[in-house]
Amino acid sequence: MKSILLQIAMIALSCTMANAQTIKKSGPFRCGGWNDDFRQLRDLHWNVEELDLSEADCDSIRQNALHSRHNLKKIILPNKTRIIGSQALFACDSIESILIPATTERIESRAFGNCTGLRTLTVLASTPPQLAEDAFSGVDLSKIDLILPNGTKKLYKNAKGWDQFFKKVTIIKEQCPEEYALIPIPNNITYSNSQPLLTTHLGNIVAPAQLANESERLKEVLTERLGITKFNKSKANINLSIDKSLTNPEAYKLEINEKGINIVGGDAVGVFYGIMTLDQMLIPDTENGKLTSLKGVSIEDSPRTKMRELMVDPCRIFIPFEDLKDMAKEMARYKMNALHLHLTDDQAWRIEIKKYPKLTEKGSFRVGMDDMQMPIGGFYTQEQMKELVAYAAKYHVEIIPEIEMPGHQVAAIHCYPELTCGAVEIPIRTTCGVSDNLLCPSNEFTYEFLQNVFKELSTVFTSKYVHLGGDEAGNPPLECWSGCESCQALLKKIMAEPGIKPQPGSRNDNWRLQKYMFDRVIDYLHKELGKVPMFWYETDFHEIQPGCVTFAWRHGLTATAIDAAIRCDAKIMLCPGEHCYLDYPAAKGDMPEVNWGMPTTSLEQTYKLDPAWGYDKNFEDNNLFGVAGTLWSECINSTERLYYMAFPRGLALSEAGWSLQKNRSYNGFLQRLERISKDMHRRGICTADPQ
Ligand code: ACM
Ligand code: ZN
Repeated sequence: MKSILLQIAMIALSCTMANAQTIKKSGPFRCGGWNDDFRQLRDLHWNVEELDLSEADCDSIRQNALHSRHNLKKIILPNKTRIIGSQALFACDSIESILIPATTERIESRAFGNCTGLRTLTVLASTPPQLAEDAFSGVDLSKIDLILPNGTKKLYKNAKGWDQFFKKVTIIKEQCPEEYALIPIPNNITYSNSQPLLTTHLGNIVAPAQLANESERLKEVLTERLGITKFNKSKANINLSIDKSLTNPEAYKLEINEKGINIVGGDAVGVFYGIMTLDQMLIPDTENGKLTSLKGVSIEDSPRTKMRELMVDPCRIFIPFEDLKDMAKEMARYKMNALHLHLTDDQAWRIEIKKYPKLTEKGSFRVGMDDMQMPIGGFYTQEQMKELVAYAAKYHVEIIPEIEMPGHQVAAIHCYPELTCGAVEIPIRTTCGVSDNLLCPSNEFTYEFLQNVFKELSTVFTSKYVHLGGDEAGNPPLECWSGCESCQALLKKIMAEPGIKPQPGSRNDNWRLQKYMFDRVIDYLHKELGKVPMFWYETDFHEIQPGCVTFAWRHGLTATAIDAAIRCDAKIMLCPGEHCYLDYPAAKGDMPEVNWGMPTTSLEQTYKLDPAWGYDKNFEDNNLFGVAGTLWSECINSTERLYYMAFPRGLALSEAGWSLQKNRSYNGFLQRLERISKDMHRRGICTADPQ
């Protein structure tokens, strides 16, 4: 995604280092600007465990100062600290105790978000610093021992933000709201005049055997939201059933009246989505709230598009396997149904391939991601991925693997140099940008390798979709092949085939070689493995092979990609950079501070995506496949940050992909988001602010 190489001048930080893990900094300290001392501490001294800034000449810990420094166990803030900025110590989850200096005036939003290890907070200020309500978002405050100056307890107890530390945990009984806050908004909601259903009457689930999984999911909801643990003998039943007259398997009907709840789905997945809607209906408004009743309602709902996807990139950072499971479950709450794993790139190969063990032995570890000098390693075993696939399936999320070709394959080439032209040996890439080293299309080993990889993956990933990449192959594109004799001989042969003419407007003919490679691999995937290949739509590719799904991603290229999909009678996923690149900051000033020209993608901008892109019903019925949000991770330094970037924009995307255009309004979305955001925060997910 990034074609401009990052140029970074790192200025050595003047500090005393007792050892690699301890840093004491005194005297001049640069706070602010794109390459200040905080950024150096965060990105160069990634392994710092103890940081003593007591004598640093600095009065604010600025926004994102030490974001996601998981190694940091102890920090002594500057004696003069006035401000602790937004997300300053976000996800520094190894810090157990912290002292807030007497000079502190303000602690901003999520300053200690996800600092889940925090147990002691000592505040020296005799006047309570202004504290953002969400400064400790994602942290269980009941686990923190708050130590205050003598005689100030009452003052703190009455101060906004600080009052949260003194609240007793008592269950607050809540009436259900006048209108349910549902994302994505259903097609049809009709409130009835029936008496509300008392939630204390709920407990009995009536469902056929084929909905055993959905019954389990419903039990999870009832336990989490209402504390119900016994599931029989209640006054009100929850009936689950399948009605094949609902032609879309994902469609469902949900009815609530004083006697109980009926959820009917086109198939098990539809029933599951009815349950996810019920889950959102049960979200309380307050911290320890529990709804005592549900308003009578009748809902009819079905998705506008077939696939609502998020793509994650565990190559640039490594995303632990358990975190992928959580992500799948979280997505399902908003009726997203595909998690796309970008498993290979220039910087790492992340999936075990038994036939090619070097891929993970040599290709899954490196030091650095641009100026972040952190060792980044890890891979998923096939067993783990099978477990993920099975887990996600319970939430009706499919896992789509992506293996890039012909570009973004430096890690594989590093392990097996014969994959590239001239078998040149190249190091694994530690910076972002686009590599010129590509898989060689004229070498039979390339095909043997790809086929073996896809064959093994087909035993792990049950989804019928597999993503082949296809984007950004070299800069300038495909030049690698111009200097390869055998590639040029193959190209000559292709160009001599009857009916082949130079493509007007193409930069050169090498794209024919990419097509040749794709045709061969697509043919294999179709015929031998029964898969539906997907790929990123690229500038020179005016053609989409039958039975494939293309992804429109480049800024300004969506209409061209759509036209190609229509012309080739193919399916298309919409993930245009203008709306769907969730790795772009949601607001100016957010990370990354070193920005190579990434625009911002605000929540509103994501929301504005119309998946039909102004095209007619024909396009929508025949070609439009879904929507995808990308979370490329060159600048995402932790799982916590991944969530922050994914949400709430992922919810805007889910509504774009699921809901009817006529039912959508940004203001309505924002209102509904309020309750749902609070719920995410309660569950430990720190999200970006709506912008
Ligand atoms: C991409 O962003 N390179 C598909
Ligand atoms: Zn070659």
